[in-house]
Amino acid sequence: MIILSIETSCDETAISVVEAVGDFPQATYEILGNSLFSQIDIHREYGGVFPALAKREHIATILPMLERALAEATLPHDYTPDPSPEVVANINDILKRENGLAPLLLEYHTTVGKPPIDMIAVTSGPGLEPALWVGVNFAKALSTLWQVPVVPVDHMAGHIVASIFDGHHLAPLSFPALALLVSGGHTELILMRDWRQYDKIGQTRDDAVGEAFDKVARLLGLPYPGGPEISKLATIARTNNFPPFAKLPAPMLHSGDFDFSFSGLKTAVRNAVTNKTLTTTEQAALARDFEDSVVTVLIHKLTKAIETHQVNSVILGGGVAANNRLRDAVSALGTNTAFPHLSIYLPALNLSTDNSVMIALAGHAEVASALSPEAFAATRADGNRSL
Ligand code: KG4
Ligand code: ZN
Repeated sequence: MIILSIETSCDETAISVVEAVGDFPQATYEILGNSLFSQIDIHREYGGVFPALAKREHIATILPMLERALAEATLPHDYTPDPSPEVVANINDILKRENGLAPLLLEYHTTVGKPPIDMIAVTSGPGLEPALWVGVNFAKALSTLWQVPVVPVDHMAGHIVASIFDGHHLAPLSFPALALLVSGGHTELILMRDWRQYDKIGQTRDDAVGEAFDKVARLLGLPYPGGPEISKLATIARTNNFPPFAKLPAPMLHSGDFDFSFSGLKTAVRNAVTNKTLTTTEQAALARDFEDSVVTVLIHKLTKAIETHQVNSVILGGGVAANNRLRDAVSALGTNTAFPHLSIYLPALNLSTDNSVMIALAGHAEVASALSPEAFAATRADGNRSL
């Protein structure tokens, strides 16, 4: 089957065309088309993602992303007759909040016709609601135009499958599996006893890890997104063995549960820099001290959860999974003699941060619950959707 997937939960507008041969999770996947527009340069000016701005940019780029992904896929298009006045009215109504998008989509459809897409997968949450709505409404319009079913996908389920994808296949997971998901909006430990069974055993009580990286970067005067910037400086500090700059807490290290908290750590960094002008050496040292604290807490809780739940697989997922220090520390668990049967899965770097390939894969897992265009019409974007 050929899946068209849509991701607009934050500041990436992404659309993929993925062919799946066989059933999930043993299928062979071929990425036929893949387009992604990152709004990072637009948001950088403001030091973070502004939902209203993100929405406007998704509206402006979603159709070009569709055109690019479909063109790359070089699928035969079926020159269907022009949509009926009812369908046109319906599309205009579905996209009434995506100013100007309906006529452009209808014009595109009239020119190229219907591609052989069997199912649409779209992120319906979690994320920034105004941003999510653009993808959800676009999926509604396409499913109405093409008369294909749609599956609403959980963004975090996408991050999980992204981490076990080698470009064509999903790794054969041995359960129980534990996913440590770390992104700009989420920090959670998910225990999986089987596919599509998610038990959230721990989460952050305040800031997400990526959010903490971004806020600390801001305190250090570094651009958005802060994760990669902090990571670069931390590496410099380690290479040069810079002395510690601040004694930072490792929050909730011994809380006895699998929850996290990062706002206190961010405050400690703020206190360490207030009324000071840091030298570049001190700045790099502080970035390293911060990264060390984060990784210490994450690995401590992950290790406890592995022991408690006797898991066979660990999956690291989400944008912060691009962090080398964290990748190395999670990989090291795989050679820890205390866990001789543990397999470790890290996402390819290009699939760590948000993308739509992962939404196609997670959508394939949900084929059985795909909705008809009529049923999907009632689906709402849900910023707080949870595994
Ligand atoms: O998953 P993602 O692309 O978007 C969300 O769903 O939130 O994650 C983005 C987050 C940002 O906070 C960004 O700073 C962080 O991932 N990030 C990193 C690195 N690369 C991206 N954090 C630490 N180190 C990195 N190398
Ligand atoms: Zn994400």
